[in-house]
Amino acid sequence: MDKDIPAHVGIIMDGNGRWAQKRGLVRTQGHLEGLKTAKKIVKAASDLGIRYLTLYAFSTENWKRAAEEVGFIMGLVKQYLRAEFDFSKKNKIRTRYTGDLSGLPQDIQKEINDSITDTSSFEGMQVVLAINYGGRDEIVRAVRRFASHNNKNGAEYSEALNKISEEDIGGYLDNPDIPDPDLIIRSAGEYRTSNFLLWEGAYSELYISDKLWPDWEKSDLESAITDYQKRERRYGGVKSA
Ligand code: IPE
Ligand code: IPE
Ligand code: MG
Repeated sequence: MDKDIPAHVGIIMDGNGRWAQKRGLVRTQGHLEGLKTAKKIVKAASDLGIRYLTLYAFSTENWKRAAEEVGFIMGLVKQYLRAEFDFSKKNKIRTRYTGDLSGLPQDIQKEINDSITDTSSFEGMQVVLAINYGGRDEIVRAVRRFASHNNKNGAEYSEALNKISEEDIGGYLDNPDIPDPDLIIRSAGEYRTSNFLLWEGAYSELYISDKLWPDWEKSDLESAITDYQKRERRYGGVKSA
């Protein structure tokens, strides 16, 4: 298992609602179970030696859901960040964030910021929480940051814009120091990205599992990695001789 462990794995944790519906439970019950799974998978990923784990917890489109469901998910985020400090400390897990923090309720913003600060010296796995995250939104925010940092006079400004490069945009994304994901996993069998890591995922290997997120175990993560290890990554080139 330890050969070629992907440095960065992204997970689209999908299927909480279906898990609950199948059992005649309310959707929020599925989110509660999904949180337990997230904790289990964070530990498993850390034990496997993954360096960065990005968890897609709430998209910029998920606000369309009922206020009750949205509120419940926000409450879980808070509970998770509060309750997991000891676990993070023990396992040296550092909290990072991607998304539009300013669009989240104040108390959640504070909770996320506190967790980032409190874990900033931990040198184990980095868990990137994607909450109020959209890949398109991240690119728009990167371009806006580029524009505000190149706030020159008219001619110089248009010159800077004309020369804008992939490195420029990549450098203004939320976490430019984190390598692109090697592997993106989606649970619950949907064959789409749903706006996850559009820029960074350009050459990520994709792994889709039919299993609903609350049913995920460490062995499912291991299966995804074993599958990843069989892939040949070509990045548009040709098979090496
Ligand atoms: C994923 O599970 C969690 C979030 C999007 C917050 P869903 O809630 O999307 O579950 P399904 O897709 O309805 O089963
Ligand atoms: C993607 O799942 C977002 C998260 C897992 C946080 P969705 O359930 O929102 O995606 P769609 O609606 O099926 O595309
Ligand atoms: Mg879903």
